[in-house]
Amino acid sequence: MNFGAARRADWPLDPGVTYLNHGTVGVTPRRVLAAQQAIREEMARQPSAFLLREVSGLVGAPTGRPTRVRQAAAAVARFVGARPDDLVFVDNATTGANAVLRSVALGPGDEILLTNHTYGAVANAAAFVARERGATVRTVRMPYPAFDRGALLDAVEAAIGAGTRLAVFDHITSESALVLPIAELAARCRARGVPVLADGAHAPGVVPLDLPSLGVDWYTANLHKWACAPHSCGFLWAAPARQSGLHPPVISWGLDKGFTAEFDWVGTRDTSAWLAAPEGLAFLADQDWDASRAYNHDLAWRGAMFLADRWGTPLGRDEASVGFMATIPMPASLGRTPADAALVRDRLFFDDRIEVQVHAAHDRLWARISAQVYNEWADLERLAEAVARI
Ligand SMILES: Cc1ncc(COP(=O)(O)O)c(C=O)c1O
Repeated sequence: MNFGAARRADWPLDPGVTYLNHGTVGVTPRRVLAAQQAIREEMARQPSAFLLREVSGLVGAPTGRPTRVRQAAAAVARFVGARPDDLVFVDNATTGANAVLRSVALGPGDEILLTNHTYGAVANAAAFVARERGATVRTVRMPYPAFDRGALLDAVEAAIGAGTRLAVFDHITSESALVLPIAELAARCRARGVPVLADGAHAPGVVPLDLPSLGVDWYTANLHKWACAPHSCGFLWAAPARQSGLHPPVISWGLDKGFTAEFDWVGTRDTSAWLAAPEGLAFLADQDWDASRAYNHDLAWRGAMFLADRWGTPLGRDEASVGFMATIPMPASLGRTPADAALVRDRLFFDDRIEVQVHAAHDRLWARISAQVYNEWADLERLAEAVARI
């Protein structure tokens, strides 16, 4: 199986751009876009039958056949080791996290536990819910930039208190791009009776998943980043014991009719991204997912070591904490503020046509590279040289 430039024809990316930012919002392969378009055309031919009979089963006598949403959910469930009825589609991980945060019973004195690497939008949702209910958010400091798994587990355990009602952990963190020990984090929390919401926004397609074995209570994720689904495709998995009382952020016809009924129809919408998710998984399988995973991980890890070496900066992470993304400290001469980061990102994009995530943290700038099958070593060399020229 060839990787790098030989694979670019599968993706609709602008050939003039060095795209090292797959993780930010994902890229949909051409074949999956075509499948989505075919679904949209099917919908356009008979919209009411498609949406109300095929997709949702809201209209007509029961057919005994699973709806189109349930069929697609079953394919995704197989991919993540779950039972189909424990998994629902959501538009994105933000929506899945909101559903859980807004459904958990919380009152004055209760706490939601996060880390300081929790994705900002999810941390906002936690702060919002806490503010409404008189609860508080406790934020555990991640051992970072020198990442230490054991120290993280101990810090989380030490932060659990009598009022901790929910803990939220990223499976793969966003800016710092660290693969966290999610099963061990869940085990520490479970031992103290604290339910866990895992935010796996970056995980499907990167790490093989067997959700029930992780020991978490809820797992939300995106399929539009690394699982090759069209944009606006994520899922929420809930352990059977956590499904009652779990509501989508938008309440519709399914209220109190059960987990899947509540989430499968949240008003009239374009469900083509959900229905095309199985095509994304088929694309992964057809391009030899195991070989692709090995290639992407190797490119991210070796690329991170190469860039840190070229820029003379400390990497501060081991190979086990790297998936398909890696975050590398940039030369101190580039600055240290968010404004400096914006400037560097703009220079790379406008002067060199390199799309890469750049952020400010811990008093310096960092670049987060993504490695997807269409990337190759020359992309990283181009980045190394462009940064050296700034
Ligand atoms: C850890 C994490 N959680 C949640 C999200 C939000 O994803 P979305 O914007 O698709 O909801 C992201 C996005 O990058 C993320 O990295």
